[in-house]
Amino acid sequence: MYKIVRKEVLNPSVSLIEVEAPYIARKAEPGQFIILRVDEKGERIPFTIADYDRDKGTVTVIFQIVGKSTESLNELGEGDSLQDMVGPLGVASNFEGVKKVAVIGGGLGTAIAYPQAKKLHSMGVSVDMINGFRNKDLIIIEDLCKAACTNLYTMTDDGSNGNQGFVTAKLEELINSGEKYDLVVAIGPLVMMKAVCDLTRKYDIKTIVSMNPIMIDGTGMCGGCRITVGGETKFACVDGPDFDGHLVDFDSAIARSRMFKNQEAESRERAHK
Ligand code: FES
Repeated sequence: MYKIVRKEVLNPSVSLIEVEAPYIARKAEPGQFIILRVDEKGERIPFTIADYDRDKGTVTVIFQIVGKSTESLNELGEGDSLQDMVGPLGVASNFEGVKKVAVIGGGLGTAIAYPQAKKLHSMGVSVDMINGFRNKDLIIIEDLCKAACTNLYTMTDDGSNGNQGFVTAKLEELINSGEKYDLVVAIGPLVMMKAVCDLTRKYDIKTIVSMNPIMIDGTGMCGGCRITVGGETKFACVDGPDFDGHLVDFDSAIARSRMFKNQEAESRERAHK
């Protein structure tokens, strides 16, 4: 069993749990993910690792309450245990040779962008982090991000934190002001990552995105997480989740991400009856 040693509510629909998982913590690297089950009958839920502590033997995940399974997960508190957790899965991010990087987080994607920024910062890389949220009440882990980068820009769509605009507008402003990025890392909703890639293609800046499609086994067997990259089929669980954003077919990924919306809504309704 995997004990929850810390739980924090980050905003009304997003929570953080730190879980005792020493074997996973020992090997985890930014970019990798775990799959957990809340109980014996629970579905397998993949989460990108938001943080890990090798000394304490813990792994942190940050999740949004979007359906029945994440509602059940959110019902657990400190001292409760998860049925199981496997990982670390996927390929760790590779940041060799970069000197200046823009790390972009969109909404919950900020939780996944954070370990990337932290790793780069610890390698001595200059990191500009740009995080975007719909409004100030949805901002998460701002202090952690501030400590994990050189400059932090927190944007809101409605300007309620005094900093209005999309992450793409801020990134373009920084590029036009003379910032020379070797790499952009963009993590968040598919439409946001697509918009970042359209922008960076224009300026010829290499861009890595983290793909989070539907996953089932997480080991390359079921094909559920397939996406098209550079005209080839790739499995996000074993070939990614990081991919060259300029090669990802975002339109097909967006269409595929909407395939099970009705079933998800039905499952949520059934759980609330
Ligand atoms: Fe089954 Fe990736 S989740 S192949």
